[in-house]
Amino acid sequence: MSEVHRQSIPLEHLSVGMFVVELDVPWINSPFLTHSRKIKSFKDIDALRRSGVKTLVIDTERGAAPKVSPQYVAGVSRDDVSKEASNRNPEPAVVKATKPRDPSVAVELAAAQKVAEQVKQVASQLFEALDANKAIDVKVVDPLVDETLASLNRNNQALMSLVHLSRKSQKLADHAFSTFCIALNMGVALKHSPEELQALGLAALLHEAGWQHLPLNLMGKRTKYTANEEQLIARHVDIGLNMLQSSNLPELVGRIIAEHHERNDGTGYPNCLKGGDIHPLSQILAIADAYDERIHQLQDRPGLLPRNALQLLYKETKKGAFDSKAMTAFISMMGVYPVTSAVLLESGEKGIVVEHDQHAHTTRIKIIYDGSGKALDNPVEACVTQAEEGRSIKSLLDPADSRVDPFGLLVFVTP
Ligand SMILES: [Fe+2]
Ligand SMILES: [Fe+2]
Repeated sequence: MSEVHRQSIPLEHLSVGMFVVELDVPWINSPFLTHSRKIKSFKDIDALRRSGVKTLVIDTERGAAPKVSPQYVAGVSRDDVSKEASNRNPEPAVVKATKPRDPSVAVELAAAQKVAEQVKQVASQLFEALDANKAIDVKVVDPLVDETLASLNRNNQALMSLVHLSRKSQKLADHAFSTFCIALNMGVALKHSPEELQALGLAALLHEAGWQHLPLNLMGKRTKYTANEEQLIARHVDIGLNMLQSSNLPELVGRIIAEHHERNDGTGYPNCLKGGDIHPLSQILAIADAYDERIHQLQDRPGLLPRNALQLLYKETKKGAFDSKAMTAFISMMGVYPVTSAVLLESGEKGIVVEHDQHAHTTRIKIIYDGSGKALDNPVEACVTQAEEGRSIKSLLDPADSRVDPFGLLVFVTP
């Protein structure tokens, strides 16, 4: 976009037909999936007002120009908004698609499910061997990394939908699988080398090995940890590294495991490392790990809906806990409403997010209830963009609330 076409304007000067490219509120608070969009109706302007937007940048090449003179709107400079936006708004950098997206999530799911089964099976076998004090052959993980990367490359949302499925047992292997997929997905987005991705994948798969020597009922305990329990849990990092000592682990992998609970602001453990002392791959694993723990209730706090977990991690990043570049890649990859989220549309329809295309900024939703609250006999799929008047996503729904989902239908089911 040419710089001369960018204009900073106060919200009062925004009108239908203008094309917005930047807002002065954090992306997560924006009413839209992306900050870039054409203003189609007064409802859009009202939604921006309700979100606390005061100034924004428009692109006059892609939409209408303000009727007032540029001098008049110059009270707020574009630099001010840009600075504000870059300080406060981690809107993910738009990654240009290098090829059309194919296949769809539905098509890729079969392959993704095979990958998931293999990853969980290998993780279980490795944990069993480590628990029996045996050395493991870490090379067995290499092909799993390759197959996972291949699935992510074909469609990076299929494995993500499996990450979000509810679980019944196998806490450690399931968590290892999820962390493995999320971390590799982020590693690709952050353009790490194939060697680094192998190290990241191996570390993600083994990062909780030490939990096997802790009482497993502590994982996902429903009441608050006592101080003693917290101390015990903090030991799982060193316990795991000891278990892996005879397994010829590459040094980098050991470091990533050692640092997966360190936090950018020094509030993590076991060594209270800060920012630059923590390896970038450890920063990735920290986010992948924390997200999966939150959505599957692996700690002593209630589990969160994916979007709420995303929002919480985002807030923690703003306070300094996580690396903001890695968090930006993570949010971009997940979408504002991660796959499997139950959502309400502006039309009153309710559905489930089945695909998020970060390149096209579109979200595919399986519509389950029509605008009057009636369950559809045959659910239909709609591709929603935030520019689509009347059918954009209005809010997140909690399917556990029977008033929201009286028939228990807002559940993501794999074909
Ligand atoms: Fe851990
Ligand atoms: Fe973990």
